[in-house]
Amino acid sequence: MIGVSTHRFAIFTSRLFRLYIPSEIFSIMPKYFLAVECDSGLNIFLNLEVIAMKNLIDWTASLSVGIDSIDNQHKKLVDLLNKLYAAMTEGKGSEILGNIFGDLVNYTKTHFATEEQYFAKYKYPDSAKHISEHKILTDKAKALQADFKSGKVAMSREVMQFLKDWLNNHIAFEDKKYGPFLRENGVK
Ligand SMILES: [Fe+2]
Ligand SMILES: [Fe+2]
Repeated sequence: MIGVSTHRFAIFTSRLFRLYIPSEIFSIMPKYFLAVECDSGLNIFLNLEVIAMKNLIDWTASLSVGIDSIDNQHKKLVDLLNKLYAAMTEGKGSEILGNIFGDLVNYTKTHFATEEQYFAKYKYPDSAKHISEHKILTDKAKALQADFKSGKVAMSREVMQFLKDWLNNHIAFEDKKYGPFLRENGVK
């Protein structure tokens, strides 16, 4: 029996074989030939199509606000979102999904508080609009978290797409606006 697991870094060819494939190969080689030497010494060539598990969202320079401390927090949010996506695609249970979602919501609050502290400290002129955007995003995430907890909403690709847009758009369109101002004030 040959099976391709949904696990990110592994394929399984039977109970006899377990082969781990580095993520770099996963991402550039969706199809390849694999030679397997059986107990009998016979070489069998298997043409396996590996299901590459991609991240939901990749951190790229285009998301940078030019401030390392903020970029690092955004990267952590991206990591948490990818962790939630991986857990969903691997079919993890609602308790695990709920815990990761909780981590994402909590870290989002921490991150928004960091930005708002900088706004207050340096008197960022557009802070009121930005802070109201944070409130809308937090309320949406908390509502989704409550619906997930009550079973009203299941973690799905649509929900993940919503969270991806939720994070991506805020960083790309709102956070980037304060980059030059905070940099001029010496924030690194
Ligand atoms: Fe941000
Ligand atoms: Fe923000």
